Amino acid sequence: MQAIFDRRSIRKFLDKPVEEEKVLKILDAGLHAPSAGNLQDWQFIVVREHGKRIQLSEAAGGQYWISAAPIIIVLCSKTNRLRRIFGEQGENIYSIIDCSLSAENMLLTAFSEGLGSCLVATFDKDAVRRILDIPPEIKVYAIIPVGYAAEKPNPPHRLGIESVAFLESYGKTWTKDVSKGIGPVFIRRDQPFTDSEDI
Ligand SMILES: Cc1cc2nc3c(=O)[nH]c(=O)nc-3n(C[C@H](O)[C@H](O)[C@H](O)COP(=O)(O)O)c2cc1C
Repeated sequence: MQAIFDRRSIRKFLDKPVEEEKVLKILDAGLHAPSAGNLQDWQFIVVREHGKRIQLSEAAGGQYWISAAPIIIVLCSKTNRLRRIFGEQGENIYSIIDCSLSAENMLLTAFSEGLGSCLVATFDKDAVRRILDIPPEIKVYAIIPVGYAAEKPNPPHRLGIESVAFLESYGKTWTKDVSKGIGPVFIRRDQPFTDSEDI
């Protein structure tokens, strides 16, 4: 619960290497995520070379802070078995869900290991493909810079549960105020929700 609530996207890193055991622990957490049919079609490329980190930052629209992370994990999906078993749904949807679950495991594990990370999905996929020799049939979904944090960002705003969760049917709101006193999950709310709230 602490990792879920206190993890933040980190975009400033110390110039300090990440121990290999920690990298392996993060990857291991990634491959313990649920996956459709337990096919585990994800693949992870760990990038340490400085030149490649710079190139990945450029491929991410000039997000140069990425290159300061000593490790960048690139999340890919093979999709061939997903396509064979589940068809188009497997190739285009399950593969994204699988990789997203895997990514969250990695972000939380990085936090638990005292590291900072950030999921980055805004990038030129063909450029990343070229930089890392990724074959055309492999999908590239996310890049995750990992390193020791050099910042402690404030928690960004989260919507209240009553604004995103319905009871029994779509649009049917909770009759009691779920934002108050249900349990530790809701204690974190710091801003009141209004119907017209728009982030
Ligand atoms: C699909 C996706 C794409 C993202 N792409 C980027 C990105 O390109 N650059 C970036 O700095 N952060 C990126 N983020 C991180 C979000 O900005 C961040 O998770 C959000 O602001 C909430 O902050 P938190 O992670 O600290 O809770 C991305 C997150 C997701 C889930």
